[in-house]
Amino acid sequence: MQKNLNLTNKTIIITGSSSGLGLEAAKRIASLNNTVIIASRNEKRGRKVEKEIGKNSYFMQLDVSNKESMDNFVKNFNKKFSKLDILINNAGIMLHPPKKTEDGTEITFATNYLGYFYLSLKLIPNLVSSYDPKIINVSSISSYHVDKINWDYFNPIKKISSFKEKREIYAHTNLFRLMFSIELQKRFNKKSVPIKSIACHPGVAKSQLGRYFFLAKLIYALPVMASSREGVKSIIFSCINQNLNGGEFVGLDTKRQHRGNPTIVKPNPIVEIEDQRNKLWQMTSEKCGIDL
Ligand SMILES: NC(=O)c1ccc[n+]([C@@H]2O[C@H](COP(=O)([O-])OP(=O)(O)OC[C@H]3O[C@@H](n4cnc5c(N)ncnc54)[C@H](OP(=O)(O)O)[C@@H]3O)[C@@H](O)[C@H]2O)c1
Repeated sequence: MQKNLNLTNKTIIITGSSSGLGLEAAKRIASLNNTVIIASRNEKRGRKVEKEIGKNSYFMQLDVSNKESMDNFVKNFNKKFSKLDILINNAGIMLHPPKKTEDGTEITFATNYLGYFYLSLKLIPNLVSSYDPKIINVSSISSYHVDKINWDYFNPIKKISSFKEKREIYAHTNLFRLMFSIELQKRFNKKSVPIKSIACHPGVAKSQLGRYFFLAKLIYALPVMASSREGVKSIIFSCINQNLNGGEFVGLDTKRQHRGNPTIVKPNPIVEIEDQRNKLWQMTSEKCGIDL
């Protein structure tokens, strides 16, 4: 695990910190004397984690697939906290059964991607006045599996039901998280916004991520899998490393990047295509009704 270079006395929101990597990150970050906001959709689980971590941890309800919930979260955060140093967008689902949100958006697309975009943009005013503020977007090696973007996910009538479709949408949301992260940094630079936007991935690590599909559930619990403590290294690296300028993708230093030590890696080449990133930004901004 990395040394604590500068990660102390910070206020940090971690979405989806009631289990898996988010929970592990919350424990580690709180132990370094930072204030951690357990931003979780489930009050019972969130309160349990708050109690388990104890000092330095605060539960606040947040459903990142729901705009109203995100608006309420930001309002409540503003009432309680005077500063925000780091937002870690981590909440996510994989291979979820077919489901749509209240506004007809596919659930994985809403949770894994639209929520990252909307919450980040809503919290920019809270971050700008902090010292070395960061938005850290957790992505995945599945982002490399996309060859050509399928823009139909923006269409609310598309139903995702087969295993192949579920895998594809998960990979797309991870590519979109990454493209958003890099485009956000470009837009910050243009507008001289002093926030760093960093994407990272944990490799493949034990968690509850496989819970919606029996085989994945078994795989994500295998003893040979990296522990969530190991999986969280790239998130912690992204928080503490002062040499990051923003716009990086922090992955792992091994060929397949399943396990290893954090290092900056090359993303899927699609990420480098400016037109595609702009198109994604435009479509997302219109869908979410928010822009920078
Ligand atoms: N584990 C891996 O190997 C791996 C690899 C690559 C990327 N990732 C990414 O890492 C992130 C964390 O996943 P994990 O592996 O730690 O899985 P996990 O144990 O299932 O944790 C996911 C977390 O997200 C929360 N969540 C789901 N939907 C939410 C919503 N609508 N609003 C708020 N919170 C929500 C869950 O809350 P509940 O407790 O209420 O369900 C849970 O706390 C995900 O974004 C995933 O894509 C994981």
